[in-house]
Amino acid sequence: MNLNGIKLTWLGHATFRVETPAGKTVIIDPWVMGNPMCPEPEKKVKKVDVLLCTHGHGDHIGDAVEIVKQHNPAVVGIYELCMWLEKKGAKKTSPMNKGGSQTIGDIKITMVHADHSCGILDGDQIVYGGEACGYVIEFSNGVKIYHAGDTNVFGDMAIIRDLYAPEIAMLPIGDRFTMSPREAAYACNLLKPKTVIPMHFGTFPLLTGTPAELQKLAPAIAIAEMKPGVTLS
Ligand code: NI
Ligand code: MN
Repeated sequence: MNLNGIKLTWLGHATFRVETPAGKTVIIDPWVMGNPMCPEPEKKVKKVDVLLCTHGHGDHIGDAVEIVKQHNPAVVGIYELCMWLEKKGAKKTSPMNKGGSQTIGDIKITMVHADHSCGILDGDQIVYGGEACGYVIEFSNGVKIYHAGDTNVFGDMAIIRDLYAPEIAMLPIGDRFTMSPREAAYACNLLKPKTVIPMHFGTFPLLTGTPAELQKLAPAIAIAEMKPGVTLS
């Protein structure tokens, strides 16, 4: 995997910290302090310029409000989710919707489809949070990363491949609430990434899929098995 100046850290589950070639810090799916897979030293967020939110479930935006209070980053998400985060104190939301792109600092962000639900648990209510999405992030060094969010496999992943051709795909493999390794292997056929980073597995006993199973089902694909807290660059 050639990151060409990008620093990539998995914080466990679907949460990643990405440091861009220009030194901006992006957190994808801000579930940090409450994330049981996140190593202790990483639970204190030191710096963040951009939050990218795939959908409103607690295991993805669980610490968004707290991080916004501490750092006031730009917050990217689908329109309804951004409006909800504004009500909770986000000052710099940058809403978008599927098919659209926007550039923030040195990254170009495209919101793509995901097939999943997106209710936000707010107190004892479930609030409409728009739809779940994924992102293709294009860096100034040309590297493109696809973060699938929570999703099953869907045929239009072939469109993501045709239009954006991301070389790195972060795919959920845990099963039960997202793709299983079997579906993720099929997703690899559609996306044809150079490298797959498995995520959204092992956090809870219910998330049973493993990178080894995915490798068995997709022997040709390069799987980068990350360890929470370890930075690739
Ligand atoms: Ni979810
Ligand atoms: Mn999830």
